[in-house]
Amino acid sequence: MCGIFGMLGGGSVGRTVEALRYLEYRGYDSAGIAASVNGKLRVYKSVGRIDRLQSVIPPDLDSDRTIGHTRWATHGAVSYDNAHPFVSSDNSFAVVHNGIIENYLALKKQLSLRGTVFTSQTDSETVAHVLQHHYKTDVLQAVIATANCLAGAYAIVISTTHDGNLYAIKDKSPLVVGLSDDGVYLCSDVRCVSRWASKVAVVPDKTVIAVSANGVEFYDYDGKRVTMQYFDAERSETETDTCGDFMLKEISEIPDRLRQVTSGYYADGGLGMPRELALQLRRIYMIGCGTAYNSGLHAASVARAFSDVDIIPVIASEYIYGHYPTDAGTLAILISQSGETADTIRAAEKVAAQGGITYAVTNTKSSSLCFKCRCVNYIYAGGEFAVASTKAYNCQLVTLLLILADIARLRGTLDSARHQRLLDSVKALPESAERALADSARIKRLALQIKDSSAVFYIGRVNDYSTACEGSLKLKEISYIHSEAYPAGELKHGTLALMERGVTVIAICTEPALKQKIAASVSEITARGARVITVAPFTIDGCDGIILPQCDASVGGVIAVIPLQLLAYYAAKALNRDVDKPRNLAKSVTVE
Ligand code: F6R
Repeated sequence: MCGIFGMLGGGSVGRTVEALRYLEYRGYDSAGIAASVNGKLRVYKSVGRIDRLQSVIPPDLDSDRTIGHTRWATHGAVSYDNAHPFVSSDNSFAVVHNGIIENYLALKKQLSLRGTVFTSQTDSETVAHVLQHHYKTDVLQAVIATANCLAGAYAIVISTTHDGNLYAIKDKSPLVVGLSDDGVYLCSDVRCVSRWASKVAVVPDKTVIAVSANGVEFYDYDGKRVTMQYFDAERSETETDTCGDFMLKEISEIPDRLRQVTSGYYADGGLGMPRELALQLRRIYMIGCGTAYNSGLHAASVARAFSDVDIIPVIASEYIYGHYPTDAGTLAILISQSGETADTIRAAEKVAAQGGITYAVTNTKSSSLCFKCRCVNYIYAGGEFAVASTKAYNCQLVTLLLILADIARLRGTLDSARHQRLLDSVKALPESAERALADSARIKRLALQIKDSSAVFYIGRVNDYSTACEGSLKLKEISYIHSEAYPAGELKHGTLALMERGVTVIAICTEPALKQKIAASVSEITARGARVITVAPFTIDGCDGIILPQCDASVGGVIAVIPLQLLAYYAAKALNRDVDKPRNLAKSVTVE
């Protein structure tokens, strides 16, 4: 959702391009840099990927002050004119922006009346012109005045010809500062700068930053100096760790990651919630977006079997604007791989404002969500770079099940024998995941058969319904085949009308006790000419099937989703799609 970067230090052009490659997962519509050379701002941009940008940057371009941007288009089409950085009319300020300036039309109108000419349709360009308007003799004062004019969510990095510094302003979009022997970094992604920086600071909302050769200073919007806490940067994997598609690599890591998620959970102190707090709960909301929401949907479905508290899955953006009772007896588990999803962060803020208990479940240490929540637990999935989330889903599921089981244990609704059975089932997951992955040749063959389907429907009952939702999301986002998920019983209440030749139905059934039910659905569907593929620990006569390893029902969804992730991957590959960077999407959605 746009990646921004800035570096003050030698070799900043190369570093910025390297950073933009890393940040490309946040948007890949266009990219650009602005380098300060001999007191002038030199801007290079291009539509498309970083390779194209690199081809327009002179190889000998050298600068010790560069800012850069990868774009996921929100305001204005994908075009050269709408690519960042934007410069002020007098070429004295260059800006890169992640977020949305909600009052940009009003600002644009005022500036236009004063004669400013705009060259793009973006909200971001406005910021460069507002900076020019406020500049008298002191850049810091102009930056603070600009910050006070902006409404919305933004992290903005600014370069200027008026002095040798970089500046930044931040409200509600992620921004980190990294310090290294080579220089100072400003970036929207903590993992990106952690590859070079030894110390990192996660910048709080409504902060202005000035980076000079003498160091980094932080200010509030009144211009008062504020102190910032730095912590040791944690090195993370880099994109060079793979030579193929990230998605396939990430799916293949699932068994190992499942080994780490449980040990990580206990090494971090387990639930991390006092018994009194668990006892006062009246309801638990599982809040997230997309795949993260689906993991909450699934964990809620499983945990209802042992919980006496209402567990309610809610899509984060629905929670923000809907009416959901929230008080001191409410626990909101906010699930986010990136920890930067704007909808989830806004939901966390609303829960906290209404007196509820916020609990983050995330893959990203020091992400914005961690700072918004009272309790935090990590899912230990390792870096996930493919836009389509895979291994994070499996690890989220396990972490959520451990959390909900621990709460039920504290409340006395899950006895120690059942709790132990659940833990034993979790321990067996890595091996089951390996067996599920071993079937990939067959899954690939089936994917070749479904790739030309006019539509694909995923059906399942209870726990399998949420697995269906996740399977369907995976397929549509990377193959662009139309797909939908339904509770299997709902089919005959409307969707059966769509069954015909050319349609494929993926029928998921992890519960052998429901075999007859799924067999009945299969007959209804095949009688209308559609084709069925079952995903179950058994086969059904007359249709293709992917055989799942036997698992306890409480954890079956962690494994059942693996063939669906592979099916989506192979179907997308067969259609020649860019599986890691599907059209119109970005990995980290930092705007509402
Ligand atoms: C789907 C996918 C998205 C994300 C969603 C939430 O494959 O990746 O649906 O799950 O945007 O992202 P996080 O988990 O980072 O909050």
